[in-house]
Amino acid sequence: MNEIISWKKEYEVGVESIDNEHKLFVGLIQKICSAYDNNVKKEHITLLVKELYKYVDFHFFSEENIMIFTDYPDYAVQKKEHDLLKNQLTNIMMTFESEYIDQANLINFLLSWFREHTTQTDKKLGLFIQSRG
Ligand SMILES: [Fe+2]
Repeated sequence: MNEIISWKKEYEVGVESIDNEHKLFVGLIQKICSAYDNNVKKEHITLLVKELYKYVDFHFFSEENIMIFTDYPDYAVQKKEHDLLKNQLTNIMMTFESEYIDQANLINFLLSWFREHTTQTDKKLGLFIQSRG
């Protein structure tokens, strides 16, 4: 499964700082995937999900600052999406406390969210920033 998680041209939003942060995010998904492949115990997978959560929190804060500083018109919509994903990740971490989430479910959720986040929402932000020069 690990080989399908790689950086793809379609993920690029055209703003270097955002693309670099997104690349790191792909690296964290790969790390979680490898942990499953190596049958790491679920307590440790939970720790990796927490690590990813903290990085997502940082990344969203950084994007929200960019949106605020550039008067991005869709700020409120995007902020809501960020909050929703953070809630979903919190739920996943809580679920791990009591039960196991299998690799396919977790990785598919993270990848499909990431694909949508980069190719839809952040792409719009990228175009907006580029249009302002
Ligand atoms: Fe992003």
